[in-house]
Amino acid sequence: MGARPGRRRGAARPAGRPPVPAAPSLLAEVEEAVVTRPRVYEVESSLTDLAAYQDTVAELSHVCRVSLLSTFRSMGALCEAGERTTRDGLRDRLAVAPQHGRLFDALLGLLAEAGYVRLDGDAVITAEVTEHDLQAEVDQLAARKRALLERAPDNDGLLAVLDACLRAYPQVLTGRRDPLDVLFPGGSFDLMDQIYKNQQQTNALMVQVVDAYVRERLARDPQARVTLLEIGAGTGGTSRGVLAALEPHGDRLRYLYTDLGSSFVQYGAKEYGGHSFVEFRQLDVERSPQEQGFAAGEVDVVIASNVLHATRDIGRTLTHAKSLMRPGGLLALFEITRLHELLTIAFGLLEGWWAFEDERLPGSPLLSVPMWRRATERVGFRGMRVLSGMPLREDRLSESVLLAESDGAPVDLTRAAAPAVPAVTPAPAPRPPRSRSRHR
Ligand SMILES: C[S@@+](CC[C@H](N)C(=O)[O-])C[C@H]1O[C@@H](n2cnc3c(N)ncnc32)[C@H](O)[C@@H]1O
Repeated sequence: MGARPGRRRGAARPAGRPPVPAAPSLLAEVEEAVVTRPRVYEVESSLTDLAAYQDTVAELSHVCRVSLLSTFRSMGALCEAGERTTRDGLRDRLAVAPQHGRLFDALLGLLAEAGYVRLDGDAVITAEVTEHDLQAEVDQLAARKRALLERAPDNDGLLAVLDACLRAYPQVLTGRRDPLDVLFPGGSFDLMDQIYKNQQQTNALMVQVVDAYVRERLARDPQARVTLLEIGAGTGGTSRGVLAALEPHGDRLRYLYTDLGSSFVQYGAKEYGGHSFVEFRQLDVERSPQEQGFAAGEVDVVIASNVLHATRDIGRTLTHAKSLMRPGGLLALFEITRLHELLTIAFGLLEGWWAFEDERLPGSPLLSVPMWRRATERVGFRGMRVLSGMPLREDRLSESVLLAESDGAPVDLTRAAAPAVPAVTPAPAPRPPRSRSRHR
């Protein structure tokens, strides 16, 4: 990238250096290469499978809602049918610590969606027995969990996450226990892996996208050298497969493995340093990349998996990403695009989940596919393609790979001023490297 730290915000490259030519548009080629490979749809290959999958997701939602209700009742709330209180009154009764205020509101929203409470302005009204026999719901919980596991045994890990979080809620919500200690006990990622391991199919899609792009570029231009930059690479849930796929072309590539956290960068260097074409650098995408030593306009492909939603202002974040890219460069995002109760109950414990300051899906930092489309178009990305392993309407997709290309118009980083406060790291430092196949 060549730029030195401390250069003026938005500066492109040193005087006298020729502008980098536009990258060819390859969106159509990438989409065709990926979609026509049969294995993309192999998991959810038939409508029967899809219906079964959706039933399981709905049943898991129900189990989450009843489990949450049961937890509230164990803390002494929502025990009387028709009981009336206020949000503040309930928050005080449960002694919710100030840092969990947004989570508390989101949880009330979940209980209201389930019909267990009615929210009327500031009033919180526990359901009448005639609407919902709450005790009966709680009594049936164990049986519903068993039925869910009989039907879909690989949900056991998700139920383990749910139980671990809700068991700790009385202590965590009141600020007496650190949520990191619950989600990453002893610094271990094993519990959270239960959520991430379900993302393998979408990660495989990311690998196919990047691989198809690089192959096409190199086939078209024997002189081409391709630069890729990954934002928030973490412990490499996506990078692992991408780097393995790119290895045969390594002498014509440069891959910047970056993350906000230096411990993740170090982890990446240890785990993936064997790929000679990879460099490991720190990058906070909430701040101007140029001020962090990254040159403007040189990257062909920006990759970001499960990270951009964790920033405060999506417009600013996307502007920073675009500033790194050549005109026509490809943005490849992997994002959760539909909220599930389990995400709120688990990730909602983390401060970083609530760092956002702009419009998101209600009660979460996530954006739906249409919201991503609008956000990317607003900052000058065009031609969005949406890929998924699920044959569903795009506003219903729970995980999506989103592709768009930079229109090449110069970005105005002064309008995307950096936040005054440093960004929040949403996860603890990774534990020492372990076997490659386990994490995500
Ligand atoms: C949920 S993890 C995803 C890691 C990896 N991309 C994956 O899919 O396995 C989110 C990552 O984004 C990083 N992150 C959070 N905020 C960031 C920021 N402002 N700039 C760059 N990285 C950030 C975190 O440190 C963490 O490693």
